[in-house]
Amino acid sequence: MEKLALLGGTPVRNTAYPQWPVFDERDIEAVTTVVQSGNWGGFPYPGPQTAEFVRRFLALQGGEHAVAMMNGTVTLEVACRAAGIGWGDEVIVPAYTFQATAAAPMAAGALPVVVDIDPDTYCIDPKAVEAAITDRTRAIIPVHLGAQMADMDALMDIAARHNLIVIEDSAHAHGAKWREQGAGTIGHFGSFSLQSSKILTSGEGGILICKTQELADRAASIIDCGRPHDAARQLYTMGANYRMGELQAALANVAIERFPQQAQEREEMAAYMDESLSEIPGVRLLKRDLRHTARSFYRYIFAIDPEVFGVTHDVVCDALHAEGIPADDGYPPMHQYELFQPHLSRLPVPSAFPERLRFHPGQFPESERAATREAIWLNENVFRAGPQGVDDVVAALRKIYKHREALAAFQS
Ligand SMILES: Cc1ncc(COP(=O)(O)O)c(C=O)c1O
Repeated sequence: MEKLALLGGTPVRNTAYPQWPVFDERDIEAVTTVVQSGNWGGFPYPGPQTAEFVRRFLALQGGEHAVAMMNGTVTLEVACRAAGIGWGDEVIVPAYTFQATAAAPMAAGALPVVVDIDPDTYCIDPKAVEAAITDRTRAIIPVHLGAQMADMDALMDIAARHNLIVIEDSAHAHGAKWREQGAGTIGHFGSFSLQSSKILTSGEGGILICKTQELADRAASIIDCGRPHDAARQLYTMGANYRMGELQAALANVAIERFPQQAQEREEMAAYMDESLSEIPGVRLLKRDLRHTARSFYRYIFAIDPEVFGVTHDVVCDALHAEGIPADDGYPPMHQYELFQPHLSRLPVPSAFPERLRFHPGQFPESERAATREAIWLNENVFRAGPQGVDDVVAALRKIYKHREALAAFQS
């Protein structure tokens, strides 16, 4: 076989994978209609496009109450605040996630307590959650990472026994289901991002599914400068302007029409990917939990064994890129994350932080292993390119495996 593209050989794939986001005349028309209406912003809240998006999103995901807002970071912060979580409270988050999962409770005044992940799923480990609970713990924020879901049965059981709020960070999980129930509708809140890379996008945006009307009323008030949104119009809160604008909502309304078809395409190709990848030595698929009845594919994550490949995941990703495959090595573990800077906040970090809340090397071994050695994240567009899109990934990985000694020599 030809030598690796990274070492000057011919790439496996020469054609680009499909573009994201997808758009056509419908998006242009939808935005034009809003522009011509003169009603561009989010006040009065919710505007007609925003209200329509909430309706459509609940029809897709399940749940009865939702509040659309600016992005999938404020959705997490607002969930904490709507649940009354704030100063001095502790919120348990996984060590393998985007910084927003831990930064958002801090914005609400709470302390994130970081715990390790389950190596089989790369989602928060329920045993680690249970071990981290104190009398200050108020909430758990599981993250449904990539194409996986956290073990919602175990987490809801822990939450019920300890009277905790569960905020499902479903930024990656549009369309996903656990026992046929939509991600984000199982806990007290489900937080979704509509940021440009997400599989349902309006450029920027977020939506928060709330378990009860009361929580939704509070969330709506918090994002609308504190105005009351309860039926009696009496519930004023300490709020700010986190509203979704009408232009964004118009784009989301078109995107959600395309979503079911895209989701089906990704699921079919991902099933084919599961079959094909599992045959490559040194490749480990994450566990497919049978209770996870519908998957979403923001990113398809699998692991390589660095001992077998002779290099760590970042080098394999470089080699994949050179072969024409869009892959990256994912998030760093929380305790090594340049974007996560709790010591720069005004919270009592680190001096007044209890010792157990401080970070030190090796603290989250499973997250560290995934994030610094083995995880490979494939982009969603790999799964919208038909069987050839999958075949090219598999051919590229096989080629890298075959030339692993040359790759290791190149790296050193
Ligand atoms: C797991 C996770 N949580 C939260 C967010 C925050 O979403 P947003 O970028 O819309 O603020 C993201 C975005 O990348 C994410 O991946």
